[in-house]
Amino acid sequence: MPDVVSVELDAQEVPWEFAPGRTIPGFAFNGEVPGPTIEANVGDTIEVRLKNSLPQATTVHWHGIRLPADMDGTGAVQRAVEPGETFTYRFVVPDAGTFWYHSHTNETEQIERGLYGPLIVRGADEPKLDRERVVLLDDLKLDAEGNVSPFGDSHEHHAGREGEIRLVNGRQEPELEIAGGQVERWRIVNAANTKYVRLSIGGRPFSIIGTDAGLLSEPREAKEVLVTPGERVELAVGPFNEDERIEIEALPYDRGQGESERERFATVRVGPSAPSRVTALGSWIPIEPLASAGTEPTRTIDMKALMHGGHAQRDDPVRVGELQVWELVNETGSDHPFHLHGFFFQVLDVDGEPPQVVSWEDTVNVPKKSRLRIAWLPDDRPGQWMYHCHILEHHAMGMMAHFEVVR
Ligand code: C2O
Ligand code: CU
Repeated sequence: MPDVVSVELDAQEVPWEFAPGRTIPGFAFNGEVPGPTIEANVGDTIEVRLKNSLPQATTVHWHGIRLPADMDGTGAVQRAVEPGETFTYRFVVPDAGTFWYHSHTNETEQIERGLYGPLIVRGADEPKLDRERVVLLDDLKLDAEGNVSPFGDSHEHHAGREGEIRLVNGRQEPELEIAGGQVERWRIVNAANTKYVRLSIGGRPFSIIGTDAGLLSEPREAKEVLVTPGERVELAVGPFNEDERIEIEALPYDRGQGESERERFATVRVGPSAPSRVTALGSWIPIEPLASAGTEPTRTIDMKALMHGGHAQRDDPVRVGELQVWELVNETGSDHPFHLHGFFFQVLDVDGEPPQVVSWEDTVNVPKKSRLRIAWLPDDRPGQWMYHCHILEHHAMGMMAHFEVVR
């Protein structure tokens, strides 16, 4: 029987202690960064009563949830919730996966200051690993005095905002403890404004079991995975030996701003061994491809023009049930994480090369000087939708467009 999951979210300005004795004025749901983990089963209704106790207007976007347009939390579908007001979001969650919710008003500041949290939807047949944890990656940019660096400086408009403080679940470089001999499911979310994370777990192999919109059709072995802002990835991690210490790091990556340094996000401390019940990672359901590599695009999106287009661009409507093949052309010198609201897509090819596996995504990195094709099928949820770059400073600058889904 589907349930109603009722949640109260109070957006407040509170001291955020991101490291012992180090506090900044944060924006947080229910006083915590990240906000509470919302958990539901496929088919449940989530009902969130949002109270805005912030000194500024806000809205909440349910990143990755295929909900009705009027619940999407954007300025195109609702009036912002002013200080002191409340608003109730109500929607069914149709898909299993790792999602997240975050402010969709003045995001560069509101998300940087902590206005986000995880949303987990479970299906009937989930892999049974020894333990599950949510790992939200983020960073924080402080000035020389340790205050939140001012927003909107002109360098940030182009380069995005990246900070020196690296956070996991709202804490600076924490220690995570894992039992020796066990295999855990990690639900990873990149909640940073701009920082790309080429994730490594001490160089150890792990299995990628899921992406933005749930499980893959089979696990894929890897030693690193790129997680751009907005993206999620699910990993089977371990087993490790008792007493090991392993660093969770971002490896150097050049998204167009020169190669980044190798950076630590957290340390894993391996505790005493415990029995593992993991035999196989799960049962896997094939993902049918929507279209093949090289399919003629129905629309081309020029990301350079989008970037310089200024505010509130409007793209052509799409019709329910008509296959969309969009070619994303990135002639800029930077990577951009492209996010489509409300629908999942499959990547068909990047510069003509099909990806290694078919997967469902709502956010994809479009590498600099490349063309990437995606396919998606608008199901019957007419209304105003949008796509944008998930580098929040780019989005704020106008690297976005609205479009309508029509019947
Ligand atoms: Cu997670 Cu419009 O974004
Ligand atoms: Cu961008």
